[in-house]
Amino acid sequence: MEEKKKIVVSGIRSTGNLHLGNYFGALRNFVRMQDDYDTRYFIADLHALTTNPDPKALHESVKAVLAEYIAAGLDPEKNTIYVQSDVPEISEMYLLLNMHVGIGELMRTASFKDKARKALGLSGDGEEIEKDIIGNSSNNGRVNAGLLTYPTLMAVDILIHKADFVPVGKDQEQHLELTRRFARRFNSFYGVDYFGEPVNFNFGSAAIKVPGLDGSGKMGKSEGNCLYLADDEKTLRKKVMRAVTDEGPKEPNQPVSQPVENLFTLMELASKPEVVAHYRDAYADCSIRYGDMKKQLAADLETIVAPIRQRILDIRDNDEYLSKVVAQGAERARAYAADTLRDVREIMGIRKI
Ligand code: TRP
Repeated sequence: MEEKKKIVVSGIRSTGNLHLGNYFGALRNFVRMQDDYDTRYFIADLHALTTNPDPKALHESVKAVLAEYIAAGLDPEKNTIYVQSDVPEISEMYLLLNMHVGIGELMRTASFKDKARKALGLSGDGEEIEKDIIGNSSNNGRVNAGLLTYPTLMAVDILIHKADFVPVGKDQEQHLELTRRFARRFNSFYGVDYFGEPVNFNFGSAAIKVPGLDGSGKMGKSEGNCLYLADDEKTLRKKVMRAVTDEGPKEPNQPVSQPVENLFTLMELASKPEVVAHYRDAYADCSIRYGDMKKQLAADLETIVAPIRQRILDIRDNDEYLSKVVAQGAERARAYAADTLRDVREIMGIRKI
């Protein structure tokens, strides 16, 4: 008898086009898992609402991310591909699970603190933002409740499928930890053994953080340091050539500065090991020329991006095809979700009179 495939769930927020951080951190693994797992991938448009996008931009982005999922290699026949808001069972279970989530633990979540600080216009990373949040009555500085309960919604995305694996980048690990905690809490509160504890999955290696081109932290839309899957070749090359570096090594085996290490990290993702080794050696003996390294990196990234970009152009305006894909995906996802929601309602005591 064929063994039941393990269930995989993941999603990406629809807040613009997908960038190489999304690709290397998550999407590439989505594609690699599609043959051996029962894979369910969605576009997290409800999560995107937490940062109050323009309605038209949100809709465009849902379409763009869908086209980019498929263009990156996700086969709609092998995967359940859906839009989060097409599955209303998720919203209902989000309400139910919130009854078992503490506002304190949500307020301590790193992603919440970051975004709340941004909403309040606070810089630095002082620990105490609670007072600022409670005391702030201006509309502009409002920290919305959806932002606070973001981890509840994400936990529901995962638990509603009873997922085993959740391929995500390093920045999502805390959310996954909360998901497991909520699952355990639900089980123990109701004395059931209903939810398992889903884990990250990166084919045996550690979750990755893809750096940006501005010399600082991760590649991210709000950071404005992204290479997009939909960037044309010229744009991609220009962005790489403009990446921040330093004045170059002055003595052999000097420690590598953060901006240059970021370029090496990107190179490790895109280039052959011998190419990376060549530039590491050149750095160590001070013969490196960053211009050459960037040219090589741009060419190797182009090799990865070119076929994806072509497929994006082929399908992104094909509304008929795209809507067929998500209609089929929603139907499947709703069937899985409805089963779980029925059980959860029953366990919690919401029953017909
Ligand atoms: N929070 C994730 C991100 O920002 C997106 C996401 C929402 C997600 N729900 C999820 C990822 C469920 C994995 C599983 O990238």
